[in-house]
Amino acid sequence: MAMAVTTLFPKISPLVHKTCFRNFIASVSFATFAPAVSADKPRHKWRQPVVSLVEIGGVKIDKNDVVRDDPTNNVPDTIFSKLGMQLHRRDKHPIGILKNAIYSYFDNNYQNKFDKFDDLCPIVSVKQNFDDVLVPADHVSRSYNDTYYIDSQTILRCHTSAHQAELLRKGHTHFLVTGDVYRRDSIDATHYPVFHQMEGVRVFEPNDWEGSGMDSTSYAAADLKKCLEGLACHLFGAVEMRWVDTYFPFTNPSFELEIYFQEKWLEVLGCGVTEQEILKRSGKVNNVAWAFGLGLERLAMVLFEIPDIRLFWSADERFTSQFSSGQLGVKFKSFSKYPPCYKDMSFWINDSFTENNLCEVVRGIAGDLVEEVQLIDNFTNKKGMTSHCYRIAYRSMERSLTDDEINDFQWRVREQVETKLKVVLR
Ligand code: PHE
Repeated sequence: MAMAVTTLFPKISPLVHKTCFRNFIASVSFATFAPAVSADKPRHKWRQPVVSLVEIGGVKIDKNDVVRDDPTNNVPDTIFSKLGMQLHRRDKHPIGILKNAIYSYFDNNYQNKFDKFDDLCPIVSVKQNFDDVLVPADHVSRSYNDTYYIDSQTILRCHTSAHQAELLRKGHTHFLVTGDVYRRDSIDATHYPVFHQMEGVRVFEPNDWEGSGMDSTSYAAADLKKCLEGLACHLFGAVEMRWVDTYFPFTNPSFELEIYFQEKWLEVLGCGVTEQEILKRSGKVNNVAWAFGLGLERLAMVLFEIPDIRLFWSADERFTSQFSSGQLGVKFKSFSKYPPCYKDMSFWINDSFTENNLCEVVRGIAGDLVEEVQLIDNFTNKKGMTSHCYRIAYRSMERSLTDDEINDFQWRVREQVETKLKVVLR
């Protein structure tokens, strides 16, 4: 697992200094698996057809331009099939409902001053995604292991910060960017290789902070925290949350906001005071700004009590029919809990082995029917060979899987880890 969870960049010195909005989570129960909502309705197909041409923000994207058999390309079909789905633009989908609720918070508190973008193309240059926001040349997030590359200079954005510099350059001073972002990652209930983020940026003028008795950076940091605490309150009413000091290449100081969920602290957003260099390059020399990037799935899981991130992609009516436009926080009722099936697999790894590559193989075969890939044993023998044992949990959110189906997946996984990852099965 090379990459941090919602946010891209590793923590330096986690320092908890604030807790508020207690007691929300205590009342949340994930054990309630209520009877099927409409058990006799026809089930939807669990695989979505792969269309070969999509249009995003007026740009036509052909599958052959995104998925290519070329060493500079690591985009699988399953990822291409997510392009253009834009869950955040569906008003009756939890992600769209949440986006709209955040938009209303900003409209109401800032007199419609924030410009909104939710149709910017997710295919961006390496420069936009990394260089423009000062990500160092050797940063792990640039690796083929962590990011989907279309070619050596073009990627699927891994954060909405990819649009910051350009919008600042165009003169926007208050803006929100919502979009689908893509990351190669491990597999579990809160990680999926495509998710949605919202970026917020606010630029201040000298007369904003002059007279406050604060220096410009402290002023922006205080305003940022006030804004996001207000947002958390607007969304959750009361929830246990804390600020953690962290590091991002594009902000200083930088913070993360964590929310207590399912007995764990969950990162839901990263933020900070924008590096002066970014403002300077976009022609703003007498300003200070703040920026944040929040993970919409993480927040929606808490708000709607959605226990598994794969559900957001479900076309099953028993999922989709539970949400309506403008209704934030309707509690999701599981249609029923289908049993998981576990399969273990051990192999000797090689130097190039990574868990992300393994997860990519498993998803390529089982798609959304894989729930978790977990390292359960790891040892090195006297000859220096390292063995890993992974436990794969297969489970559908929508139906029971058959033994044949699972055995078939597992055989194909075993075959492909040998041929594609060149590991030696034990
Ligand atoms: N882009 C960061 C991430 O995805 C989040 C972030 C946005 C942090 C803006 C600070 C400012 O991890």
